[in-house]
Amino acid sequence: MNAPVNTAVNPIGIHDITFATGHHSFALETLAAKHGIDVGKFHKGIGQEVMSQPAADEDIVTMAATAAKRIIDRNGTDGIRTLLFATESGVDQSKSAGVYVHGLLGLPSRVRTIEMKQACYSGVGALQVALGIVARNPQEKVLVVASDVARYDLNSGGEPTQGAAAAAFLVQANPGILAVEPASGVYTYDVQDFWRPNDRHTALVDGKLSIDAYLNAVRGAYDDFIDHGGADFAAIDRFCYHQPFTKMAVKAHMALREHVGLSADKAETAAELETTMHYNRMIGNSYTASVFLALMSLLETESDNLVGKRVGILSYGSGAVAEFFTGTIVDGYQKLLHADEHKKALDSREPLTYDAYRDLHPGTRVADITDYDTPEVTDAPFRFAGVKDHSRIYQRR
Ligand code: HMG
Repeated sequence: MNAPVNTAVNPIGIHDITFATGHHSFALETLAAKHGIDVGKFHKGIGQEVMSQPAADEDIVTMAATAAKRIIDRNGTDGIRTLLFATESGVDQSKSAGVYVHGLLGLPSRVRTIEMKQACYSGVGALQVALGIVARNPQEKVLVVASDVARYDLNSGGEPTQGAAAAAFLVQANPGILAVEPASGVYTYDVQDFWRPNDRHTALVDGKLSIDAYLNAVRGAYDDFIDHGGADFAAIDRFCYHQPFTKMAVKAHMALREHVGLSADKAETAAELETTMHYNRMIGNSYTASVFLALMSLLETESDNLVGKRVGILSYGSGAVAEFFTGTIVDGYQKLLHADEHKKALDSREPLTYDAYRDLHPGTRVADITDYDTPEVTDAPFRFAGVKDHSRIYQRR
């Protein structure tokens, strides 16, 4: 068994956390009506109401920069020597999307910047890397962004689970929001449940296999967590799951309850997770950002005081890698939340008609990219202006 790091002496974790999302929203009610599907399948069956959609001049970089700007505006750049960008919708095969964010935010040059990928898992992978960097030198801070646009083919089973968002958070010693505990359970196995080849904008998925693979990984990661000294199930007060659609979290928690020998009633489980599902239900799948949206939803919509509560966090990335770990909520966390900005980001989205939504969808295949300009749509602080000489052009607004 690994010897746990003593976080009681030097807690490390999330000091500040926020999200940004697309300029547009698309109601699943509209999709259901156009496709002749009972909307109950979306609202109740998969637990989704609305999907965020980026404008033509937004992408993973602009959303990530918008979220990260909020962190920098509040905390400054002192101590930040690493910027980790987690995504599975990368905009370049070589250059890290993080370097574009670094430029847009005007961060100091004495920063290491990299992009990390393993489907939806890499946000939590980046968090673990960040914890390691800060454990080695508690003076350092790490800025992590997890940003994705989830896209499936039009008229496919995955279409109602699309979405877009970026989470940004600061990892440091003596954090103000979540002190991450040392025990962690990890699980990797090679399964072809969901993937996106280089020539496609849209993911390929075996939906039913992906659900089974997720549930299998929950059990595997949890067992490893227990084998590495993790807290008992009964000592965990709240659970946040990766939410490709919110009903998946309910399925996962029921599976975990059964795995530890407890009964698993669907309605009770859904009620138990309710406060963790608000943002994902209104945004859709945001891949790497999704589990952090679940955490923000818990922190910002639960009326109980969460100070001292232990939260179990489960990340799943198809293909597949999962991790289960816990953290405790720090005294004074309420003062650091960005609930008002998040409400504004959700409420101010411009709704899309069905035709406008279809027009914005990029289709399946990645075509040869020639120079183009995008229309000015977003009112976020940063925009993607188009492509010139094969380079992506980003602008501060
Ligand atoms: P589907 O075949 O269209 O839907 O695909 P369904 O027939 O399975 O119905 C879904 C649920 O709605 C069912 O409930 C139905 O009973 C219910 P369940 O049996 O699951 O409890 N239902 C209704 N409920 C109320 N009123 C109605 C009604 N009709 C049906 N009228 C599927 C669903 C999720 C497979 C599809 O959307 C899909 O392929 N999604 C994409 C894949 C996905 O999200 N997988 C999740 C696990 S993998 C993961 O999390 C990783 C991922 O984020 C990627 C990454 O890691 O990068 C995806």
